[in-house]
Amino acid sequence: MNPKDLPFFYKFSDRKPLIHDRVFCVPRFYGEHQAFTLPSLSEEIFRNDHPIHIEFCSGNGEWIAKCAEEKPNINWIAVERKFTRVRKIWSKMKNHGLDNLFVVCGNAEDFCHHYLKEGAVEGIYINFPDPWPKLRHAKHRLLQEPFISMMARICKPNAHCIIVTDDPPYAKISIESMQANPSFEPAFPLPYFVNKPDEYGSSYFNRLWDEMGRTIHYIKYLKKEV
Ligand SMILES: C[S@@+](CC[C@H](N)C(=O)[O-])C[C@H]1O[C@@H](n2cnc3c(N)ncnc32)[C@H](O)[C@@H]1O
Repeated sequence: MNPKDLPFFYKFSDRKPLIHDRVFCVPRFYGEHQAFTLPSLSEEIFRNDHPIHIEFCSGNGEWIAKCAEEKPNINWIAVERKFTRVRKIWSKMKNHGLDNLFVVCGNAEDFCHHYLKEGAVEGIYINFPDPWPKLRHAKHRLLQEPFISMMARICKPNAHCIIVTDDPPYAKISIESMQANPSFEPAFPLPYFVNKPDEYGSSYFNRLWDEMGRTIHYIKYLKKEV
């Protein structure tokens, strides 16, 4: 399958939530999410009760497709808002027969808020989120309230939440925001990050920043028991 074999879902004016060939399209600037019920992830989408791990900001899906291949006893959800990148994740899923991968084309915040139940996931990964370094763009950063509260809601107790970034200011802000949320505790002692372990896997942006010699910050938090 070629990425271009996944057709556009609809014109913007006709947008609505829909599932096509294991891609769930979550429309943006849409006020009627409550009218659509996402089929049960365990019973209808994955058809097993394996734990669900989710990657927000999946890009071309390189990291998550490899995880899905190597860890078949985990159900993986890739969330990416750019359709051109979703197509690439979809083609990897089709070409490698990844039945344990489901793709969401939409904003992380919309999918999380409208379609994920409390305690639904056991692992969250955010690899190289856009850092939006300029102060006037700070509102676009994903790792801040209310998204952190949304993550707390969808995590089971003891679920992990991993954030990987090459950007030191973004690492600092993300750590401060996670520290401020009472539902999470850091997995590592101060400064609350380590260098990314080799076995974690890689991605397009990971290679880009490695080649430039940047330090990759690996931040891990755990959802508290109570
Ligand atoms: C720097 S790229 C990293 C991609 C991939 N994780 C990697 O490591 O190669 C950030 C990605 O996050 C996506 N993105 C940014 N904000 C998002 C959001 N709120 N919801 C879903 N995807 C988002 C962008 O479209 C882009 O593909």
